[in-house]
Amino acid sequence: MKSNPDFWSKISEKYAASPISDIGAYEATMDRVLVHLPKDARVLELGCGTGSTALRLAPHVHSIVATDFADGMIAQAKAKPGADNAQFLCADAFDPALEDGVFDVVMGFNLFHLVEDTPAVMGRIHDLLVPGGLFISKSVCLGERSLGLKFGLMKRLIPVLQWVGKAPFVRFETIAGLEADIVASGFEIIETGDYPARPPSHFVVAKRV
Ligand SMILES: C[S@@+](CC[C@H](N)C(=O)[O-])C[C@H]1O[C@@H](n2cnc3c(N)ncnc32)[C@H](O)[C@@H]1O
Repeated sequence: MKSNPDFWSKISEKYAASPISDIGAYEATMDRVLVHLPKDARVLELGCGTGSTALRLAPHVHSIVATDFADGMIAQAKAKPGADNAQFLCADAFDPALEDGVFDVVMGFNLFHLVEDTPAVMGRIHDLLVPGGLFISKSVCLGERSLGLKFGLMKRLIPVLQWVGKAPFVRFETIAGLEADIVASGFEIIETGDYPARPPSHFVVAKRV
């Protein structure tokens, strides 16, 4: 199965109306992100969904370009009360509108388990960043063994749901595999965490070397 923007556009209205599923984990993530965001940072967000995180972080940075490959998600983001320094764009990481070497921080939350060729995307993120720039991400690692009963069952159901068009492309990545991809793409990992711990939503702050 392939990663499909139409799947995400179709669910964008429902996604926009849904509350954050684990507000404690979200707030913990935002707290850690803010520790690393320079006030003068030019930020790019990939897979921004309906734009809530970009709008939340916009007052803390110079500017933010928030992108998603699903036009439905970008339409939802643009319908929200905006911020002068936040721009929404329908684009994936390889879009030529995104210039190499101009971003201080590239972020992606709840995205990389949904991307088919993660090393290629991380290589592109490396190129989009200024030297020494930060790559901040959080990814569900469904390749871990101890997911617990509920998420273990959900994992088994994913292929069936994909078959009937009710689930997107998903990679079952481990924490070690995710970190290895980040390091192999030319980054030094400077902080990790799990928000929440189960299923592990692995937070990584990495510096372009
Ligand atoms: C689970 S949602 C997360 C949205 C948002 N980052 C959040 O944390 O709420 C995943 C988002 O990534 C987008 N997406 C999935 N694969 C993508 C890709 N290859 N390039 C860009 N966006 C992608 C989807 O359209 C969707 O909006």
